[in-house]
Amino acid sequence: MNALEKLEKIKIDVETALAEAKGAQEVDSVRVKYLGRKGELTSILRSLSDLSKEEKAEVGKRANILKGELVAKFTQAQNAMESEQSNSVGKEIDVTLPGIAPRVGTVHPLTRVMVRINEILISLGFKIAEGPEIESEFYNFEALNIPLDHPSRDAFDTFYIDKEYLLRSHTSNVQIHVMQNQAPPLQVIMPGRVYRPDAVDASHSFMFHQVEGLMVDKGIKFSDLKGVLSMFCKTMFGKDIETRLRPHFFPFTEPSCEVDISCIMCMGKGCRVCSGNGWLEILGAGMVNPKVFESVGYDPNEYTGFAFGMGVERIAMLLYGIEDIRLFYENDVRFLKQFK
Ligand code: PHE
Repeated sequence: MNALEKLEKIKIDVETALAEAKGAQEVDSVRVKYLGRKGELTSILRSLSDLSKEEKAEVGKRANILKGELVAKFTQAQNAMESEQSNSVGKEIDVTLPGIAPRVGTVHPLTRVMVRINEILISLGFKIAEGPEIESEFYNFEALNIPLDHPSRDAFDTFYIDKEYLLRSHTSNVQIHVMQNQAPPLQVIMPGRVYRPDAVDASHSFMFHQVEGLMVDKGIKFSDLKGVLSMFCKTMFGKDIETRLRPHFFPFTEPSCEVDISCIMCMGKGCRVCSGNGWLEILGAGMVNPKVFESVGYDPNEYTGFAFGMGVERIAMLLYGIEDIRLFYENDVRFLKQFK
């Protein structure tokens, strides 16, 4: 092995030895082995005078470069060992110290309210069904008796994915899926997200949540709708809460109504929340339009039914006294942790 080959070998050997070294002492003995007074690299540097003039120049240059590299490596290894040691000093576990309480998350207020709505309706015999948020025009509009050119479609118009598919503007699309897949009688609730191109402000969001309800059987009457909804409102908001139905229009129900509850803040006396009139609108409802039954192949002469749809955000805001809908979506822990 000539001198240059020896230098090459020293470099590799030092790297291996350092990689295996455990503790500062072992690092130091590697250093002594190569750079000490009788070290391997030291003796090559010492015997340079035995070499020819050309060899001396080449080997001398390489040996000095290597020495510089090795010194740097040893310093680095030494420092690493020392900081490892000092890190563990005083780090023994003190079992008498108080523990660090892990931060436990809380259920989101919208989820809580949605779960509560579902629970009440499930106790009245409803079963949960779900449907797609990306929906075709047929399910979101046509099958619900909202023709392409009907003006009522404006209010429900939404975000289109392409020419035919869109983000559903209400959960009523699920009514159609459920009726296509099941024969009556049925009694379902359909919770989920909906989308509308509304400008965001304290009471509007482009995305919010609804719980839809549908009950179909022979002989379902408007009074059944009224009974279910007033029972629901009393359980949700308190037994002294009154409900009132106001005539309204929805293409998929006929007749249709909006349902108000007596204001839960002022108990109907009139306050800022109910704009002084004592009532709060909380949902839309009605008897299923026979045209909707026809679109899913149910016989409207045999079956009748009712449907309703409520906004979860609106109910949560009323229950908790939240004045800005945006708080639900901002993930501000200071807001969320209040709902334990
Ligand atoms: N889909 C209606 C809305 O989003 C609510 C509704 C559902 C009304 C079912 C009547 C019956 O406003």
